[in-house]
Amino acid sequence: MTRQTPKTVFVIFGATGDLANRKLYPSLYRLYRNKKLSKHFAVVGVARRPLTNEDFRNNVKTSIENFKEDPIDHDEFASHFHYNPFDAQHLSEYQKLDNFINQLDQKYEAGGNRIFYMAMAPNFFGPIAANLKSQGLTDNSGFSRLVIEKPFGHNQETAQKLNDQIGQAFSEDQIYRIDHYLGKQMVQNIEIVRFANALFEPLWNNQYISNVQITSSEVLGVEERGRYYDDSGALRDMVQNHMLQMVSLIAMEPPAKLHPDEVHYEKVKVLRSLRPLDPTNVNDYFVRGQYDKGEIDSLTVDRYRDSNGVDEDSNTETFVAGKFMIDNFRWAGVPFYIRTGKRMAKKSTEIVIQFKDLPINLYKDKGDTIDPNLLVIRIQPDEGITLHLNAKKTDYDTTSTPISMHYDKADEGLESPEAYEVLLNDCLNGDSTSFVHSDEVALSWKFIDVISDTWSKETADFPNYVSGTNGPDQADELLAKDGFHWWEVKN
Ligand code: BG6
Repeated sequence: MTRQTPKTVFVIFGATGDLANRKLYPSLYRLYRNKKLSKHFAVVGVARRPLTNEDFRNNVKTSIENFKEDPIDHDEFASHFHYNPFDAQHLSEYQKLDNFINQLDQKYEAGGNRIFYMAMAPNFFGPIAANLKSQGLTDNSGFSRLVIEKPFGHNQETAQKLNDQIGQAFSEDQIYRIDHYLGKQMVQNIEIVRFANALFEPLWNNQYISNVQITSSEVLGVEERGRYYDDSGALRDMVQNHMLQMVSLIAMEPPAKLHPDEVHYEKVKVLRSLRPLDPTNVNDYFVRGQYDKGEIDSLTVDRYRDSNGVDEDSNTETFVAGKFMIDNFRWAGVPFYIRTGKRMAKKSTEIVIQFKDLPINLYKDKGDTIDPNLLVIRIQPDEGITLHLNAKKTDYDTTSTPISMHYDKADEGLESPEAYEVLLNDCLNGDSTSFVHSDEVALSWKFIDVISDTWSKETADFPNYVSGTNGPDQADELLAKDGFHWWEVKN
């Protein structure tokens, strides 16, 4: 898709909130600095708080103050930002907002294009979307798009309800559901590694791959988000979205074209092929954990149950490990293991593709074991790819030793764009490939709901892992019973 610097009025609901300040303004700034935004853009900040334009612009400037080295005039960038105090419940305010957007559209020659970004509590998404439509804000002359943030519901039923609500105002191709993992450079690289190399795709199946492991570990605890998190847990917070999205990208068939519909179609097929669980076998496939107190970087950290906003007997999981089976021709028999948790040993997201063992080890008589080949896609913090092979030892004899080949993105010497920056740019350009389709949301909830319903009825023996470790022993046992172990790969 050829891209032009788009013209648009960008309306941010929740303009004084954390997401806007921490992610959206810096991302818009970087797009501006990298000339991905034309001068024909304006941002309307919408929130309840009565701010002046000047206050608002000062907030925006504070959020980009880390970029002071750039030869970019922050005042000039901030001059594109305009504040509109707003009470979402009053219909008359929508008319005023419409007029305001129209004025800015004329001033900036924004082509009648509008993007509505919901950076606020999800219970507002549906009602605001409906009001935007009923009050005529979507009857503009250019495009109009709606961007929403997770959580997309709390389960399949509530996700469906949310979808129905926003679907009355925006069609599916106007809705951009953000999963920020899809904007990460190395997650986007899964597709390129698979579909731009003759080397991997022929091996990318159950004949050559023995299992796939995806780990996304965090060192931080729930911090100030205890109230939200205690009602969500790692399963809803990470597995339903980020982890399943990565599974889909690894497992999908090559799309016919790199068109959003084709890519979504292939991802949906993976989600449809997931072996469904039932309450009797949930605990054979998924295990959960909750962190106890412990030590991280020589500092003592509290247990989860002592966090702000968290129930003192909380049954909420802060760690999940699980096994997905994809019952289709390509993947039958290959477990896709995932694990994710808070307060683990390190902050890291990594995908390990483990290839099958060779039929025989010719080097056995020399006392060598042969390690399986691994393809490691390092998503964060060090972005790159490592291929683990075996080669000759430096010796007189022909003995084998594990070696690895590295690609480190940092060696390119370019700063990787932030996930939000990439996704905002895609949305501005009308490319929804890296956004989540409603069918993907529904199918992932359908799978996850069985687990969360089962777990909600059983009191777990929590806490069951010490902060600063790799989670509970059950996560290791999950793989051990299939004859595997988690690769703690050194890169
Ligand atoms: C968010 C979750 O979606 O992803 C957070 O709500 C989690 O709980 C975060 O910390 C992890 O994202 P990243 O980019 O730091 O891996």
